[in-house]
Amino acid sequence: MKNNSENQISIIIPTYNESTNIVKILESIFQSIPKNIFAEAIIVDDNSPDGTGKIVEDYLKNMKKMTNYTIEIIHRKAKSGLASAILNGVQKAKSNTIIVMDSDFSHPPQIIPKMIEAFKQYQCDLVVASRYITGGNIQGWTTKRKLMSKIATIIAKKGLGVKIKDPMSGFFAFKKNIINGLNFDALGYKLLLEILVKTKGINVKEIPYTFENRKFGSSKLDSKIIIDYFKSVWKLYKNGKIKTPNEKRNSVHFLSKAARFFTVGASGLGVNYIISMLFTSGLTELWYLHANIFGIIASISTNFILNKVWTFEDRDFSRRKTLSQYGKFSLFSSVGALVQLGMVFWLVDSYDIAYPLALISAIATAAFSNFILNKKLTFKEKLWS
Ligand code: GDD
Ligand code: MN
Repeated sequence: MKNNSENQISIIIPTYNESTNIVKILESIFQSIPKNIFAEAIIVDDNSPDGTGKIVEDYLKNMKKMTNYTIEIIHRKAKSGLASAILNGVQKAKSNTIIVMDSDFSHPPQIIPKMIEAFKQYQCDLVVASRYITGGNIQGWTTKRKLMSKIATIIAKKGLGVKIKDPMSGFFAFKKNIINGLNFDALGYKLLLEILVKTKGINVKEIPYTFENRKFGSSKLDSKIIIDYFKSVWKLYKNGKIKTPNEKRNSVHFLSKAARFFTVGASGLGVNYIISMLFTSGLTELWYLHANIFGIIASISTNFILNKVWTFEDRDFSRRKTLSQYGKFSLFSSVGALVQLGMVFWLVDSYDIAYPLALISAIATAAFSNFILNKKLTFKEKLWS
C-alpha cells in the first residue's frame, strides 16, 4: 500500500472476547467497502480467553487473497483497555485515513462509505458517527445505559467545552496527521474525547447512525471503565485549555487548595484530641477543660503551620509577618467556632433540623468560610486562584 493516498483506509477493530462476532464483522466490512478503496483491517486483540486471536489467525490462513482488502492482527499480552488498543492499531496503520469501530455490529459497516464521502464533501479531518444528531438513534440499550451515556455526554460538553453532539461515540474516522505529536492518556474507552480536546482547530463533521446493541457476547464496560472516564475527564480538564504548559486552571488551584485546607483541618481534630487527652492523664493531670484549651491551641498552631507551608505554599517566615498571620488565623478559627455554634443552634432551634445534619452543615459552612477568609486576608491570595 502506498502512503497518504485518498482512497486508502485503515480500519482499527479492537477485540476482547469477540469469538462470535469477529469473522462475521470482517466479512461484513469487506462487503461494505466501496470497490475503488483499498482497505486494511487491523484487529487489536488482548489475548482474549475465548480464542478470538486464534480464530482470526485460522481465518487468515484460509482466506483467499484479495486485491483491495487486507487483514492483520496485533496480539497484545493482556487486556489493556480499548483506547490504548486503538492507539496501537493506529501506530501500525499504513493509511492516513483511520476508521475506528467496534467488532460487535453495534457500529454498522454500512456507514463506512458515508464516512469516506464526508471527508471529501466537507473537507474535514474528523468524522464522527453520531447517535445524538437528527437521524441518529440507539436500539437495544437499557434505560440505565442510555442515562449513563447522556450523563457522560453532558460532562464532556459542559466540563470540557466539547462542541459536538456525540463525543462519547466509539465509531469515528480521522486523518492520522491530526494526532501527530500528541500524547494520549488513553484511559478507559474514550479516545475520541481525548482527540477532540487535544487537537486544535480541526474540522469535525458528525453523520447520523443507529447504534444497535450487540446480539452476541457481552459489553466490556464495567465500573473500572466508568472510573477511568472520570479520571480521564479530570486529566483533560486540568490540562485542557491551558495558556502556557505550566499554567493550570484557576479552578484546579482553588479546589486543590481547598482540599489541602480541609485535610489540614481534619488533622487538627486529631491533634486536638491527642493533646487534650495527654494533658488530662500522665504527667500533668490538668482539669479536663484546661487540657482541652491546650488541645485547641495546639491544633490551631499545627493547622496554621501546615496551611502556611503546604496549603498556601508561603515560605516567608519573617517574624512580624508570621505572627500577624498567626493572629488572624487564630481569630478566624475562633470566629469559625462561634459561627458554627450559632448555626447549629439556629438550625436546630428555629428549623427543627436534626442535630447531625445541622452539625454537618454548620461544620461545612464554618470550614468553608474559614478557608475563604484565610485565603484572602491571612495569606493575601486572590480568591479565585
Ligand atoms: N483490545 C481490546 N482491549 N478491545 C476491547 C477492550 C480491551 O480492553 N475493551 C473492549 N474492547 C472491544 C470490544 O471487544 C468491542 O469490539 C469494542 O471494544 C467495544 O466494547 P464493548 O464492550 O462492546 O463496548 P460498548 O458496546 O459497551 O460501548 C461501545 O459503544 C459506545 C457507544 O458508541 C464503545 O464503542 C464505546 O466506546 C462507545 O461509547
Ligand atoms: Mn458493544
